[in-house]
Amino acid sequence: MDTKFKITKNENSKISEVDFDNIPFGKIFSDHMFTADYKDGEWGNFQIVPFGPIQIHPACLALHYGQSIFEGMKATKSYSGDPLLFRPEMHATRINASARRMAMPEFPEDVFVEAIHAIVGLDQKWIPPAEGSALYIRPFMFANGEYIGVGPSDTYKFVIFTGPVGPYYPKPIGLVAEEFYVRAAVGGTGEAKACGNYAGSLLPTELAKQKGYDQVLWLDGKEYKYVQEAGTMNLFFVIDDVVITPATDGAILKGITRDSLLAILDSFGYKIEVRPITIDEIVKASKNGLLQEAFGAGTAVVVANIDRIKYKDNVLKLPVPEKQKVANFLRNEINGIRSQKKADEFDWIVPVKAPEAIKA
Ligand code: COI
Repeated sequence: MDTKFKITKNENSKISEVDFDNIPFGKIFSDHMFTADYKDGEWGNFQIVPFGPIQIHPACLALHYGQSIFEGMKATKSYSGDPLLFRPEMHATRINASARRMAMPEFPEDVFVEAIHAIVGLDQKWIPPAEGSALYIRPFMFANGEYIGVGPSDTYKFVIFTGPVGPYYPKPIGLVAEEFYVRAAVGGTGEAKACGNYAGSLLPTELAKQKGYDQVLWLDGKEYKYVQEAGTMNLFFVIDDVVITPATDGAILKGITRDSLLAILDSFGYKIEVRPITIDEIVKASKNGLLQEAFGAGTAVVVANIDRIKYKDNVLKLPVPEKQKVANFLRNEINGIRSQKKADEFDWIVPVKAPEAIKA
């Protein structure tokens, strides 16, 4: 693979400062980042540069009107030490779905994938070796027009940086089903990875934390009845041996981990239902002793055990993590595929092919 990227290598690597046995999520950043600019109707200025601050104008449109989107992906190491990507094309496609919804220009998918190979190839020593850890990859795009006015920008910046991460939720988490605030309504931006979706979730999440819970379980914005997702992750429930996840309806993120878990469950012959599910059905199943598990799925969280769900006066208690068999099975499978300890029958794993020019 040849590269059309201009590369400036970081001569002051910070890797020796990192304790790879103790990695917090999202606070450590690798040595390089990829940047590109959209101007005069096209993307160009493809560069790999040392990781560092980006200068922006005070009138930068993204800061004022929120025209900003992102992706989250992971690179892992195989058991024999080779750097691997997980479904990179799907992330390239999804960021462009987000771009279309937010009236932003699409980013060329071949350049997206090539840039991921290049940046991960260059910083592959930053991929933590422990299973369940990964190099988190954060592609994002924002409007950087320098003027005041509500309308799509005519210039944009696209950036990819990476950083080693451990588990997003090291412990099982509790959710509060939200009865007032709404994450997304059908027709809104809930299906896009739009930054504003996350901003709007912060206050309700803080309120959930004040009640002793970790995250919000979002209900639909019309009837406050149907389960959507938890903002940081899609949701799955095991009721009477059937694994159920809400059908995406335009207001729920089309999670790539969600899609992958459904494929794994299907291939192992689990009973699956992808359909609207109400919070009342979950409460009823819990009261009848049929709610066996609840868990979240996402790139950052992988598979997160849920131990409590609060809805009105009900507090549903879930079995201890060791007994959440489906969640634990899925975590083990997906981590196993990502380390190549398990066969990748779905062709999700893509070995990193760094351009010759940047081989470390
Ligand atoms: C991801 O799973 O990659 C996300 O973007 C969600 C966020 C909680 C980190």
